[in-house]
Amino acid sequence: MDATLTIRRARPDDAAVCGKICYEAFYKISTEHGFHPNLPAVEQAVGVLTMTFEHPGFFCVVAEEGGRIVGSNCMDERSPIAGIGPITIDPGAQNRGVGRKLMQAVMDRARERNFPGVRLVQAAFHTRSLSLYASLGFDAREPLSVMQGPAIKKKFEGCSVRPATAADLAACNRVCVQVHGHDRGGDLADSIAQGTAAVVERQSRITAYCSSLAFFGHAVAETNVDLEALIAAAEGFGGSGILVPTRNAELFRWCLANGLRVVEPMTLMTVGLYNEPAGAWLASILY
Ligand SMILES: CC(C)(COP(=O)(O)OP(=O)(O)OC[C@H]1O[C@@H](n2cnc3c(N)ncnc32)[C@H](O)[C@@H]1OP(=O)(O)O)[C@@H](O)C(=O)NCCC(=O)NCCS
Repeated sequence: MDATLTIRRARPDDAAVCGKICYEAFYKISTEHGFHPNLPAVEQAVGVLTMTFEHPGFFCVVAEEGGRIVGSNCMDERSPIAGIGPITIDPGAQNRGVGRKLMQAVMDRARERNFPGVRLVQAAFHTRSLSLYASLGFDAREPLSVMQGPAIKKKFEGCSVRPATAADLAACNRVCVQVHGHDRGGDLADSIAQGTAAVVERQSRITAYCSSLAFFGHAVAETNVDLEALIAAAEGFGGSGILVPTRNAELFRWCLANGLRVVEPMTLMTVGLYNEPAGAWLASILY
């Protein structure tokens, strides 16, 4: 590793350079393995990093080598469990310790801020990121299948699906705590404000919600039927698709039978607090 490597907080005006690196790093690793990149254009990568670098709920860092930015990393601090990503290193500077430093920087921050747990979602085909995260203490918890396809457009009797409002936040958080043991109220509040969140009501009770049915969104439900009602009502699935826990065989087969196709395998990895979920859920690309 270069002796001049330094880590500092990211600034909004770093997003253009870091977004280009992010696009190039994901493009290279994905296409080398025969997959489509999850961020198919530079502008999308710059957009994601502009949002995270500007958002007070994210802690973001860049690595500089000899004064030149060679990579960046972000951590979502909006909810009780922190989520890492995206982390990307300039393809010309990979595999010589920059990624480890950027991971250590956000993990140190999580420790200082007393986060009980930190999570991330890793591209299952990527041997290097898997090894790096495992050596930093992350356990592989859940195989995920990124799934994409046409809108299903089916109604479930007894389940009504509607957009979420700020008044639903407490009830949604209760569902999340029931299933995961913690809430994701910070990211859900942002999604409600953006108009992407939805809830399922059954017998006048909220039994499921999603922040969005998309690569960047998560969902939690009391039962598979509640989650299927939510998925079946969606107008489409954003980005590369939804992240379905593959071990939920019933839900996975239901998605397959309803026309969704597997785009890419991924792995949820966690350090610190983790409870085996007691219900149905979809991961976001953060966790
Ligand atoms: C993944 C990524 C962030 C890692 O950053 P990096 O600077 O290349 O990684 P580092 O050199 O810090 O660490 C890699 C570690 O994995 C080890 N490693 C690499 N390939 C390995 C393999 N096949 N088996 C075991 N260990 C391996 C290296 O020896 C090193 O370990 P060490 O620190 O103990 O020496 C970077 O490669 C990247 O941007 N990749 C493309 C985008 C991406 O996939 N991002 C992650 C999304 S989940």
